[in-house]
Amino acid sequence: MLARTVTFKLAILAAGLVQAGGVSAKVYKHVATFSVDGLHSSDVGKYLAVRPQSTIAKLLNTGFEYTDTFTSAPSDSFPGTLAQFTGALPRTTGVWYDDIWDRIELDETLDFNLTELFSGGINPANLPKALVNGKCTGVFPHQRVRVNTVWEVVHSKGKDTAYADKHPAYDLVRGPSGKGLSVGYFPEIASQANTVDATIAYDQLHVDAFLDWLDGKTPANSEGSLKTVPTLFGGNFQSVSVGQKTVGYLNASGNPFTPELLKALDFVDASLGKVVAKLESKSLLDDTLIIVASKHGQAPIDPTKFGEVDPAAVVNATGVPLLFATTDDIALLFMESQRDLDKAVDSLNRNRKALKISDIISGPRLTQLGFGDPKTDPAVPDIIVTPEVGIIYTTSKAKIAEHGGLSDDDRKVACFVSNPQLKKRKFSQKLQTKQVAPTILKALGFDPSDLKGVVIERTEPLPGF
Ligand SMILES: *[C@@H]1O[C@H](CO)[C@@H](O)[C@H](O)[C@H]1NC(C)=O
Ligand SMILES: *[C@@H]1O[C@H](CO)[C@@H](O)[C@H](O)[C@H]1NC(C)=O
Ligand SMILES: *[C@@H]1O[C@H](CO)[C@@H](O)[C@H](O)[C@H]1NC(C)=O
Repeated sequence: MLARTVTFKLAILAAGLVQAGGVSAKVYKHVATFSVDGLHSSDVGKYLAVRPQSTIAKLLNTGFEYTDTFTSAPSDSFPGTLAQFTGALPRTTGVWYDDIWDRIELDETLDFNLTELFSGGINPANLPKALVNGKCTGVFPHQRVRVNTVWEVVHSKGKDTAYADKHPAYDLVRGPSGKGLSVGYFPEIASQANTVDATIAYDQLHVDAFLDWLDGKTPANSEGSLKTVPTLFGGNFQSVSVGQKTVGYLNASGNPFTPELLKALDFVDASLGKVVAKLESKSLLDDTLIIVASKHGQAPIDPTKFGEVDPAAVVNATGVPLLFATTDDIALLFMESQRDLDKAVDSLNRNRKALKISDIISGPRLTQLGFGDPKTDPAVPDIIVTPEVGIIYTTSKAKIAEHGGLSDDDRKVACFVSNPQLKKRKFSQKLQTKQVAPTILKALGFDPSDLKGVVIERTEPLPGF
């Protein structure tokens, strides 16, 4: 008996596994990190109920699930992405939304031609300009990020990194040095029809890239190239998000998935299955930590809550001149003169009912809630207007859900990690997706405090790491 116990202990040591009470202290050779855009925390359990044999079910059988995890506020794609890759929130990254960013625009409108899947990436002629050493110079998205990214940290150690997302403007993950990625792969989603089927075909490009990377290959139309299988790689899936925006949920409970939404979920699940199978065939699975964390949710889940309000009415209701307004399922208002603040807030308050406003955040409350201070930081909006859950400030008539706002439907997202050697465990304490960033570095054996955002916001790795 004694001999057997000793052999057993040695086997555990040989596997490099230190796992006391569901804790991972292993140093992984690879981290694969995926965002299923739009996937809520609540969707995971509901999906497992209808698909108990799914890849996600298998991943969770040897994984940690974080059931009360929130993405950044605001929760648009850029701040949501940067939270996971910098460990920091908009007040630190300076990136508040896709289409407002230090009061300039840096989204897909930078492309050479956004109606083409691959038009050559960002057209320098479309970049906003800044004076650099007295010369008028184009500013790339990555130059606007105020703190470094996990991609930069890992790449700076001489390791390969590869990332895929939906616009060339995801250049931002390269971080301020511009050097975070060995390979970026950014087919333009705006070139595709806004349907689940077209988006599945689009997402398949990302999946093909993930599989190529695991062969150490670089797919055509990539920016950069790989020398070897990347140490850190990942990307997003868009089809669930498009399913939520165009078809949505049946209702807020039970099995709420419309056939289209279920089709998108099944596609994502099968794609994760292909990545797992590829990792296994390359004998990399045991040494890879798989992370699934959504950069944003989508609101509303309950279709009866959806409604549209004209964004022009919100702008009008301020009664003062604005420099810029981002309107979505939130409104971020930047004033021409901050002296007009009280007047604008009073006027918005008088229109709460018509504009279906749930909260108006400004002044000291903005700072108290962790949003920063518009008086000292031009990236911070002067006023945040949050509508009732389900209300979108748009006249589009083409969508029934959106993200970017502060509601739980926007922010409470799917978050789990998996490796064959982990013991199934659920963590139900309130967490944030920004904790993914230090988790990635810790899992790879690097120092999380190499990330400035982690130091500034004292961001802890996810529990279990
Ligand atoms: C953009 O691409 C579309 C589709 O290929 C093409 O019809 C259009 O002329 C292009 N626009 C410009 C400005 O080149
Ligand atoms: C939601 O829809 C499902 C499927 O049709 C149904 O079983 C369930 O009872 C519905 N729940 C509510 C609250 O209406
Ligand atoms: C906003 O104000 C302008 C100018 O007063 C007016 O023409 C427009 O109808 C208003 N729009 C809304 C949606 O209230």
